[in-house]
Amino acid sequence: MLSQKTIEIVKSTAPVLEVKGQEITTAFYKLLFSNHPELLNIFNHANQSQGRQQTALANTVYAAAKYIDQLEVLVPAVKQIAHKHRSLAIKPEHYPIVGKYLLEAIKEVLGEAATDEIINAWAEAYGEIANVFISVERAMYTEAQEQEGGWIDFKEFVVADKKEESSVITSFYLKPKDGGKVASFTPGQYITIQVSIPGEKYIMNRQYSLSDAPGKDYYRISVKREAECNPKGKVSNFLHDGVNVGDTIKVSAPAGDFVLESNPHAPITLIAGGVGVTPMISMLKTLADQKAENTITFIQAARNNQMHAFLDEVNEACDKLDNATAYFGYDADSSAGHFQGYIEKSFLRQAVPSSDSICYVCGPARFMESIIRQLKEIGIQEDRIRYEFFGPAMTLNTE
Ligand code: HEM
Repeated sequence: MLSQKTIEIVKSTAPVLEVKGQEITTAFYKLLFSNHPELLNIFNHANQSQGRQQTALANTVYAAAKYIDQLEVLVPAVKQIAHKHRSLAIKPEHYPIVGKYLLEAIKEVLGEAATDEIINAWAEAYGEIANVFISVERAMYTEAQEQEGGWIDFKEFVVADKKEESSVITSFYLKPKDGGKVASFTPGQYITIQVSIPGEKYIMNRQYSLSDAPGKDYYRISVKREAECNPKGKVSNFLHDGVNVGDTIKVSAPAGDFVLESNPHAPITLIAGGVGVTPMISMLKTLADQKAENTITFIQAARNNQMHAFLDEVNEACDKLDNATAYFGYDADSSAGHFQGYIEKSFLRQAVPSSDSICYVCGPARFMESIIRQLKEIGIQEDRIRYEFFGPAMTLNTE
C-alpha cells in the first residue's frame, strides 16, 4: 500500500515526467541494453529504432501514475500489454531490471530536480504498477499452459506448408514438432514467432495474427513481405526467402484480446486494409464453420489485384453463410471492385447493415483512423468498434 505522501509526489510529478517522457525512455533503453544486452533477444529492434516502443512505454507509465491510487482502472489496458508480454515470455524477474534503469533514466534526465524523495516515491509506484502486470500475466501463463495442447514460453513448430496468397503475402502452415495437439485460440489472436537469422547477433521475435479458423491440426500465419519500408522487414523477408517446408521455428501460445466476440444476434462487419486481412479471414472462416446466422459484411481494401489475398477463401466462406456479403476494392485501381479507390462514407453507409453492427477493423494506422472516423460519422457507436493496430499500441486519431 502506498502512503498518501508517495501518491501525492507521484501524481504531482507525473506531468513533468510526461513532458520529458521521450527523453527518459530513450535514456532508459540505452541504459537497459548496455547493461543487459541479452534483452535484445526479446525486444523488437525495428520498433526501437523508430521510437515506437519508447512512446508506448512512456505513455503507459505516466498514464499509470495518474491512476496510482486506483490501479484497478488500468486493468483493461494492462491486459492488452500483458498479452504481448506473455507471448514474449516476459517474466516477473524482468520487472526489477526495467524498474532499476527507468529510475536511473529519470535521475539522468531530471538531474538535480530528481530529489531522493521523488525517486523513492517513483520506485514504490513502479513496484505497484509492476505487481499489477505480474499478477495479470501470471493468470495468462496458467491459462496458456492449462488448455489442451497448451504450453509456456516457446515451442518448436515445423513448417508443414508454404503458400503464396498474393504478390506480397505468403502463408506458413505450422505444426508442433513433437506431434502434439495444437492449442485452440479465439479468432483475431496472434502468435509470436522466434527466429535466428544468419548473420544477426540476436534472436528476433515478431507477432503474426492467426489467419485460419481454429480447430485445425496446424496454425496458419500469413506474412506480408515488408520490402518498401526502410530498413526492410528483416523477419518478414527472412520468412519469405529463408524459411521453407520442413524448417523449424519457435512459436509462443496464441495471445491477444482483439477477438471475435460471440454474439448470435448483432450484425458483424469485418473491415480489412492490406495485410490487416489476416485476423479478419480467421473471423470470417470461423463464422462460416459455426454457420452463424448473423448478418455478416466483409469489406477488404487492397492496393491492387496482385496484392489481393484470400479472394477464394472469402467467397467460399460467404457461400457457407446465409447472410454474408463480401466487398473489395483497390486504392491503386479504381476500375475494379465494389468501391472505387479508398473506402468512403457513402460506401460504408450502404454496406454496413445497421448502426447495431459490431465492427472489427484491422489495417495500417492511417486506414484505421479513416475507417473508424467514418464509422462514427455514419452512426456506429464507439463501443461497437473493435480494432487492432499492428505494432506497439498507440493512440489513433479518430476524432
Ligand atoms: C511491450 C509497457 C515491463 C518487454 C510493451 C508495450 C507497452 C509496455 C505499453 C506495448 C504493447 C503493444 O505492443 O501493444 C510496459 C510497462 C512495464 C513493462 C508499463 C512495467 C510496468 C516490461 C518488462 C519487459 C518488457 C519487465 C522485459 C524486459 C516488452 C517487450 C515488448 C513490450 C519485449 C514488445 C515490444 C517490442 O518488442 O517492441 N510494454 N512494459 N516490458 N514490453 Fe513492456
